[in-house]
Formats: sequence, C-alpha cells, structure tokens
Amino acid sequence: MPADLSTTDLHTAHAAGPFIKWVGGKGGLLEQFEARGFFPEHAGAYFEPFVGGGAVFFHLRARDFASRYVLSDANPELVNLYRAVRDDLDAVVSQLEAHEEKHSEEYFYHVRGWDRNGVWASKTPVERAARMIYLNRTCFNGLWRVNASGQFNVPVGRYDNPHIVARRRLLSASIALQGVEVEARHFHDVLEHAVAGDFIYFDPPYVPLNKTSSFTGYAKEGFGEAEQEHLARVYRQLDERGCRVMLSNSYTDTVLRLYDDFHIHTVKARRAINANSDGRGPISEVVVLNY
Ligand SMILES: C[S@@+](CC[C@H](N)C(=O)[O-])C[C@H]1O[C@@H](n2cnc3c(N)ncnc32)[C@H](O)[C@@H]1O
Repeated sequence: MPADLSTTDLHTAHAAGPFIKWVGGKGGLLEQFEARGFFPEHAGAYFEPFVGGGAVFFHLRARDFASRYVLSDANPELVNLYRAVRDDLDAVVSQLEAHEEKHSEEYFYHVRGWDRNGVWASKTPVERAARMIYLNRTCFNGLWRVNASGQFNVPVGRYDNPHIVARRRLLSASIALQGVEVEARHFHDVLEHAVAGDFIYFDPPYVPLNKTSSFTGYAKEGFGEAEQEHLARVYRQLDERGCRVMLSNSYTDTVLRLYDDFHIHTVKARRAINANSDGRGPISEVVVLNY
C-alpha cells in the first residue's frame, strides 16, 4: 500500500485506468459497452481471466460494481506487475525514476537484455515490474511481445518525452487495486472459483480475421483453435452454473458458430495492431452475452 494516501488520492481512484499499453486494450470500447447496456448493475464477484491492460476492470471498479475482484492472466510478468503496483508502489516508482534518468537507446537494450543474459534470476519482483513499465513506455509502438523463448523482443521506439514515471496514473491504479486478487492462471481455472451471481468478462486473444492478421505474441504458447473451443466450453459451463458471462472476440465464422445459442452483439472497434494497413479502419467485433 502506498505510504502517503490522502483523501484526495482516494478520489483519484475514480480516474484509474490502464497503466500499460496492451494489444487489444478495451479502453476505446467502454463507451459503446455502456451505451448498449452490456454491463450488469452489480455482481457477486467480478472475474477477468484475460486481464491484459485491465480497461474493463478499472472502469467497473470505479463504481463499486462487485464485492470481490479477481484478475488473472497467463502472463506471469503481467501478474507480477499488477501485484507490485498494488503492494509496492513507492519502490516501483523509484526504480522508474532511475530508468528515466539513465534512459537512452543503449540503456533500453541493456534492460531489455535482462531476460537473455543470465541476470534474470537475480532481479526482484519490483525490478521486473519497473522494467516492464519502462520497456512498455519506451519501445516501438508501446507493445508487449515475446518470442518463442519468452524473451521480450520489441525494438526501441522514438519518443521525445516517453513519460516513463507517470506517478498519478500509477497511484490511482494502485489505489484501485487495493484488495483485488491478481493471479497467474490459465483461463479455465475460473471454473474452480466462480459461483452463481458472479460476473465474468472474457477478452481472449482473438480468432484471426485471416492468416496474416493474427497477433499471437502475448505469451510464448500462442492461442489457437483448440483454445477457442475450450473457452467456449468454459463459457457454457459458467452459463449453466448461473453466472453472467460477457465475451469479446472477432467477428468471424468461428466465433459465430461457437456461441450461436447466446446473444451475439456487434460493436465497431478501431484496431491499433493489424498486419495489413487496410485493416486499420473501424472493424466489427462481437460481444457475446448470456443474459
Ligand atoms: C486481448 S488481451 C486482453 C486485453 C485486455 N482486456 C485489455 O483491455 O487490455 C488477451 C490476454 O490474454 C492472455 N492470455 C493468453 N493466453 C491465455 C490463457 N490461456 N489463459 C489466460 N490468459 C491468457 C494474454 O497474456 C493477454 O494479456
């Protein structure tokens, strides 16, 4: 918990939002989700098993939506980051200040190299968390992508002022994360925890629109057809249990088929990452609801 929380800081929590840039971030869709009434009023517990940048979590958290919040992701570095920002904000900020002071192209590659030059095991959770924010703010396009060995492989970006520390944003996120559970888990583990009355929001890696448009670099394992089918089975089980379940995915035949007995809504999204540049305009994606 940050040492010097004041009442003003607590109000800041209402402005909390994602503190890292993540492919597939839902910030740009929240207005449509609200206007179309997709979110229930309240829930027992809130589960977000593909939390990524957490745009939906921060949005719902600001209105006291649930009695318990459980965020998870298969990426252990991302989970480490959330926990460090929740529990050790001051230490994360001082590490970031040190990165900011030393930042240069050469320094970027030095810090990026921690996961490939044998020093990884000697790094503390706070050092790894601050590294993740530092690389996210200074790398090309601000994205997190790893290669088949799990090593971060995005080159340095060119920014006049990369805004490495972003104190207020981190502070409001830290406040919003107090009391929130954050776990490194596979999405199917939600079945061990969710009960009737809970709300689950799934935002998985999307079914690709075509063979060249897929982004699979969130984690070294990737996410293929078998995982999409597995997820649809988990969705169905949660539905049968009496949970409310919301899922985002691409507007593709596979998704329409997998969820054909639920309510399928379409929304317009602007995709930041797309392999071909004609794909940069607004495209349709789906929101599947069981209520
Ligand atoms: C589309 S992103 C989520 C975007 C997020 N909702 C946001 O607003 O930024 C998908 C996330 O799924 C995670 N992921 C990939 N495979 C997974 C798995 N098998 N179980 C849980 N999470 C997984 C990735 O690490 C990534 O963070």
